[in-house]
Amino acid sequence: MRAISGRAFGCVGLDAPMLDAHLAPVVSSAAAVQTPLTVPPIKALGGERCALTGVTKSYGATPILKGVDFDVREGEFAVLVGPSGCGKSTTLRAIAGLESVDAGVVRIAGRDVTHAPPQERDIAMVFQSYALYPHLSVRDNLAFGLRMRKTPEREIAVRVDEVSKMLGLDPYLDRKPKALSGGQRQRVAMGRALARRAQAYLYDEPLSNLDAALRSSVRVEIRKLHDRIGATSIYVTHDQVEAMTLADRLWVFNGGVVEQSGAPSDVYERPRTLFVARFVGSPAMNLLTGRARTTGDGAVVEAEGLTVHTNAPVRDGQEVVVGLRPQDLRPARDGERSLGKLHVDLVERLGSEALVHGWARASGVTITMRLDGDAMRRVHASECIVAGIDASAVHLFDAASGLRLGA
Ligand SMILES: Nc1ncnc2c1ncn2[C@@H]1O[C@H](COP(=O)(O)OP(=O)(O)OP(=O)(O)O)[C@@H](O)[C@H]1O
Ligand SMILES: [Mg+2]
Repeated sequence: MRAISGRAFGCVGLDAPMLDAHLAPVVSSAAAVQTPLTVPPIKALGGERCALTGVTKSYGATPILKGVDFDVREGEFAVLVGPSGCGKSTTLRAIAGLESVDAGVVRIAGRDVTHAPPQERDIAMVFQSYALYPHLSVRDNLAFGLRMRKTPEREIAVRVDEVSKMLGLDPYLDRKPKALSGGQRQRVAMGRALARRAQAYLYDEPLSNLDAALRSSVRVEIRKLHDRIGATSIYVTHDQVEAMTLADRLWVFNGGVVEQSGAPSDVYERPRTLFVARFVGSPAMNLLTGRARTTGDGAVVEAEGLTVHTNAPVRDGQEVVVGLRPQDLRPARDGERSLGKLHVDLVERLGSEALVHGWARASGVTITMRLDGDAMRRVHASECIVAGIDASAVHLFDAASGLRLGA
């Protein structure tokens, strides 16, 4: 049997089928027969399903994971997000047992599996590369992992039928992968992992080969599937939109450490560090440096030509970075303390909203704001607008430490 090598496997020197074999749990046919075939109802989050405590990993002298703490509960959709090279895939591979760790503990379903081989961890994994068997039909690709686990044919037929229906693959079951579109292949790759019942489903950037439209529709499918089968999912991406929309909880990685974890809305509303503030949110937060001056009524920061009023606790003279989300900015209201004048040089009209790109007349710093409704209709390129923001929407960070100031 010939297999396709996938880029995602380079790190462990395995191709897709070998990896399948690695991740296959050792189960007897008797145990497999007893596994329920019906889709369990959606349930509330359970206890801990998968946890890393103080996990470190180096390649040679280079530390890659510098003490990762991570805990996913049963039924949870966890997303690890961060820029390229920050250690997301390494963390996923450490959970699956495809990568050893130098220190720390990996637990799955309450069991210490730090030194257990992959096949004892009962994990299903979906990779960035489709890694399908080109010479097998879609049906046989879906069944492959189950056959390898010596699952009875009767049960395989039920599982393949179930997953094929969930993923809309019925019309393609007798085709070979080369006769499928990229999105259909990706669904087969997902189906192969989901045909199994596993302690957790791990996804490593499964959508990065798809075009934008397919990415968003398959993304929705993944989340629905997770809910329908009551799965525990751990999903890696560098795309913060994917992270925000899929996650029950997300973990923002930076250079081998978790900078912040929490519900997407909490991370978005209260980024703990400048790194998280820059990374989470689209369009990105406007960040301006300045020096705080305390007043009787909060503080004011003269930030690169804009005057920002804030209630955050700052010291007089403290060097700070001010964060203004594009969606919080708007034309100033009558009688309001404004930020200052912006010269508008481009308005991108997206239908229901517009991205307004301007620069502060006093310093030339560029600012993006997102407007909708009347405000959007009234703004035009080459004009000036007086920008405003609610003081409670202003984010403030200490310039030296990069840490958030205030709640
Ligand atoms: N086998 C290896 N040997 C040496 N260095 C490695 C190895 N595998 C990964 N690395 C390095 O470890 C770091 C983290 O890699 P990892 O694959 O976990 O990043 P990532 O966050 O998944 O990035 P991406 O978003 O690009 O996939 C990178 O700097 C990478 O070059
Ligand atoms: Mg990766």
